[in-house]
Amino acid sequence: MNVRPEVPVITIDGPGGAGKGTVSARLAERLSWNWLESGRLYRWLGWQALQEQVNGEDEEALGRLIATIRLRPRAGGWGLEIEGAPIPEALADEAAADRASRLAGLPFVRRALLPVQRSCRQPPGLVTDGRDMGTVVFPDAVLKVFLTASVEARAARRLKQLNALGLYDSLRRLTREIEERDERDRNRSVSPLKPAPDAWIVDSTGLDAEQVVQKIWERWRAGSGVS
Ligand code: DC
Repeated sequence: MNVRPEVPVITIDGPGGAGKGTVSARLAERLSWNWLESGRLYRWLGWQALQEQVNGEDEEALGRLIATIRLRPRAGGWGLEIEGAPIPEALADEAAADRASRLAGLPFVRRALLPVQRSCRQPPGLVTDGRDMGTVVFPDAVLKVFLTASVEARAARRLKQLNALGLYDSLRRLTREIEERDERDRNRSVSPLKPAPDAWIVDSTGLDAEQVVQKIWERWRAGSGVS
């Protein structure tokens, strides 16, 4: 697919559990734009690497896995998904998330995923969330949001998400894991988790998803001249 620099992109980056997935999906729906949840690509890769017992050093095997990723618009015309996606619950699995976070620190993995992510920039626009969408993948995005929330709020949200999928965990363990993953995502040498210099920082602690969507929507409308 061609790269389309004229297609507007809104990026929502931030740590795990800040609500990026829900907020970006709803914003994309409201704008009738495409949506890419980039963490899903990393989680899928982590999950798949676990299934196939591929280790982090095996560039060739990981490259082969990445080459099988296909993204296509969803029925509504605003979403994207991984073709032949494996059981969605597995993607919420903490072991897959942990492996994803480790693989995400490898420069060749990030490089290989760049064109996959950029191919999602299709008309009329793209809302995407992750860690480096505004800093590395789409540095020319029209609006860059950095969504944060307290660790406690994020762990509580993650527990709720897992429970909704029929999975269980302890709040203390989740909090510790989130802190460890944040630390790793923030301190890696390639694409570390940090706001772009021109990002708008939004703290979602105490706000529900709809309130956050509304805030971002208003900011985008004010900046885009759309009434
Ligand atoms: O957003 P998430 O929690 O589903 O992401 C899972 C892991 O993938 C997380 O540890 C960070 C990594 N990730 C990344 O490094 N870059 C992205 N753009 C998205 C996710």
